[in-house]
Amino acid sequence: MVLHSEVPEDRARGTEDHRSGSSAAETAVYCRGVTKEFGTGEAKVRALRGIDVHIPYGRMTLLVGPSGCGKTTLISIMAGLLDPTAGEVSLLGCDLRSLSGSRLVQFRAENIGFVFQQYNLLPSLTAVENAAVPLIIRGVRRSLAIERAMALMTEVGLRERAQALPAQLSGGQQQRVAIARALVHEPRLLVCDEPTAALDAQSGRTVMNLIRRVTVRSDRAVIVVTHDSRVFDLGDRIIAMSDGLIDNHQREAP
Ligand SMILES: Nc1ncnc2c1ncn2[C@@H]1O[C@H](COP(=O)(O)OP(=O)(O)O)[C@@H](O)[C@H]1O
Ligand SMILES: [Mg+2]
Repeated sequence: MVLHSEVPEDRARGTEDHRSGSSAAETAVYCRGVTKEFGTGEAKVRALRGIDVHIPYGRMTLLVGPSGCGKTTLISIMAGLLDPTAGEVSLLGCDLRSLSGSRLVQFRAENIGFVFQQYNLLPSLTAVENAAVPLIIRGVRRSLAIERAMALMTEVGLRERAQALPAQLSGGQQQRVAIARALVHEPRLLVCDEPTAALDAQSGRTVMNLIRRVTVRSDRAVIVVTHDSRVFDLGDRIIAMSDGLIDNHQREAP
């Protein structure tokens, strides 16, 4: 099930024309005027102070900035894991305010894949079984789930290691299994939060190149949060944040 709703005209600002190349239909996520405050009174933290941003399909967008500047908060709001204090979020053509409770949970499960710094693999399952988990949870027949997961294991270059347990794999290999798991249900949006933070430079580049290769297609959007400057050159597009705001100077590849 994919939910659709109209994207209001004004939310499409900055994307030229609905009918042309970079229309709202080609934008996976829109945030407009998004703010987020945690706590109240003396303890109040203004984590996001008015964010306008869009994430296009078909490219790997990097979200960079110093620790504490609001990156995780912003992607959590984009992915519907956290409500903004104010502002609008349109995710895959759907106004997040129109979804709540179990519908939001289902929408997320069907449309978004997540990769985190921690691989969070289940230690007693093999690599391919770990990659199959999102399908098995959704009731896909086990043999079919394993077959699809095996195709992803091949894509991430781990076909030979598919029967290994997580403890028998390196950090970089475990992260590649986590990427296979995040993609096995064919999500429209892949969200990665610091996926290379626990890896050495070489494995970090391998993982970023892999994310790029397996995700960048015209019907999928990819956002990668990182403060790992060793991999900045691998993004198609960089959005820089500081102190709860988007910086003006953004690099956009041709
Ligand atoms: N659940 C929370 N409760 C209170 N403050 C929070 C919470 N989550 C994040 N913050 C604060 O919001 C700010 C932005 O945090 P975060 O989005 O995690 O930054 P980043 O991912 O860029 O390191 C920080 O000051 C952080 O301490
Ligand atoms: Mg963070």
